[in-house]
Amino acid sequence: MAQLWGGRFTKETDQLVYQFNASISFDRKFYRQDMEGSIAHVKMLGKQGILTESETEEIVRAIKEILQEVEDGTLEISQEYEDIHSFVEATLIDRLGDTGKKLHTGRSRNDQVALDMRLYTRQEVLETDELLKELLQVLFTVMENNLDTYMPGFTHLQKAQPVTLAHHLGAYFEMFKRDRQRMEDIYRRMNYCPLGSGALAGTTYDLDRYHTSELMGFAGPTLNSMDGVSDRDYLIEFLSALSTIMMHLSRFSEEVIIWNSNEYQFIEIDDAYSTGSSIMPQKKNPDIAELVRGKTGRVYGALISLLTTMKGIPLAYNKDMQEDKELTFDAMDTVKGCLALFTGMLSTMKFRKEQMEASARNGFTNATDAADYLVGHGVPFRDAHGIVGQLVLYCIEKNRAIDEMTLEELKAVSPVFEEDIFEAVSMKTCVEKRLTLGAPGQEAMKKVLDLEREYLSSDWKSQLKDWEQELLNQAPATQQSV
Ligand code: ARG
Repeated sequence: MAQLWGGRFTKETDQLVYQFNASISFDRKFYRQDMEGSIAHVKMLGKQGILTESETEEIVRAIKEILQEVEDGTLEISQEYEDIHSFVEATLIDRLGDTGKKLHTGRSRNDQVALDMRLYTRQEVLETDELLKELLQVLFTVMENNLDTYMPGFTHLQKAQPVTLAHHLGAYFEMFKRDRQRMEDIYRRMNYCPLGSGALAGTTYDLDRYHTSELMGFAGPTLNSMDGVSDRDYLIEFLSALSTIMMHLSRFSEEVIIWNSNEYQFIEIDDAYSTGSSIMPQKKNPDIAELVRGKTGRVYGALISLLTTMKGIPLAYNKDMQEDKELTFDAMDTVKGCLALFTGMLSTMKFRKEQMEASARNGFTNATDAADYLVGHGVPFRDAHGIVGQLVLYCIEKNRAIDEMTLEELKAVSPVFEEDIFEAVSMKTCVEKRLTLGAPGQEAMKKVLDLEREYLSSDWKSQLKDWEQELLNQAPATQQSV
C-alpha cells in the first residue's frame, strides 16, 4: 500500500480498512481525465506564476509521458495505490522528485475527483447521444420504406385500429428524440468546472478558474466551492435519462419479442442477432431483445442507489460519494452496449409485410370506421357503436371479416349500409383517411418525415464550441481571485 498522507498518523492503516477505502480498482477508468485535469491545472498554475515556466513544462511533459505509457500499456496502473490520483502523483514524484511534489498545489482530491467524474460523464453524454442518433437514423430508414405497410395498432394488446409500420416505429422515433434532447440538456447544465473548489472552501492561491475551464472545454467555473465538490446532481440526471432510454428500449424489445413469436410472425430477426437452443433444434430465440429488457433493471438500480447515497449527506464532501462510480460506470456501459446492439438488430431485421397486413385484416380493426360510416349517414354515434357491435358478433359467429359480408347481411343489421361501405372499411381507406398531423395516413406521415429529416440533418453537438465560447466571453474582467 502506498498513500499520499500519513504525517499525522502513528500507526499503519489496517489492511482491511485500506482495501475497503481504496477506489483504484474502479476510478482507474478515468485515468485519462485525471491526467488531462492535472495538465490544465498545472498550466494554469504556470500562467499565474505559482509555478515557474520550467516547472510547468517539466510537469506537463512528464504527465503526458505517463499518459502515453498507460495508453500503450507500458506502464501499469498499480493496485497498490489508494486511487488513481495517488497513482499519478506518486509516479510523477518518482520521475521528477521535488518538482513533482508541486502538482497538487492549490488542489484537493475532492475537487480533483469532482472534475474527473464530470469530464468522464461529459464524454459519456456525447457518446450516448451519438448512439441514439444512429438508432434514429435506422428507424428513419425503416419508416421511409414502410409508409404503406399496414399492421394492426393495439390498445390493451388487443387489435384496435389499423396503422402502418412507419407510424408505429414513429412513436419510438419521438421517444429517442426526446432522449437526445435530455442529453443536450444535461450537457449544458453540467458543463461547469469544479476545479478550484479545493477541499471545500476554495484556496488562498491566486487561481484563474476561467482559464482552467477554458482549457478543458467548460462553459465556466462552478460558483460555490462547497457545491463544486459535492454536487452529484448531474449524475443523477444522467442516470435518470439513461433509465428512460432503457425503459424505451425495453418497451421496444418487448414488441420485438412479441412480433417475433410463432403466433405473430411480424418480423424475422437476423441469424446474426438471434440464438439457438441447446436442446430444441427448431428454436431461434430473441435473446438480444430479452437481454436489453432484462438489463433495464440494473440501470434503474444505479439511479436508485445514487439517489439513496446522496440523500443524507451533509455538506460538503463525504466519502459516501465514492459510491457514485461503480454502478454509474456499469449503467453507462450497459446503455451504450444496449443501444449499439439494438440498432444492429433493427437494421438487419426483416419485416413480414403480408403477415402484418393479414393480421390487421382479421381483427375488426375497421369497426370504428364502420361506425363512422353510419354516423356519416345520419346515425348518432352511440347507436352506430351498438349496431357495429352486433355486426362484429355476427361476423365472429360466421368467422368472417366485416368486408367479407354480403350487402344483404350488412343490411340485415342496419338498412343504412350501402354498396360504398366496402370501400369505406377497406384497410387502405381506414389508414389513408387518418390525416391529422401525427396520424398514420401517408400524406400526414410524409409531413412528419420531412420534419424528422430536417431534425436529423443538424446536430446540437456541433454547436457546443460556440456556446462555450459565448459564455466564457462573459467572464469578469478580473478572472483571478477577488
Ligand atoms: N476516491 C475518492 C472518491 O471517489 C476521491 C476523493 C477522496 N477525498 C478524500 N477526502 N478522501 O470520492
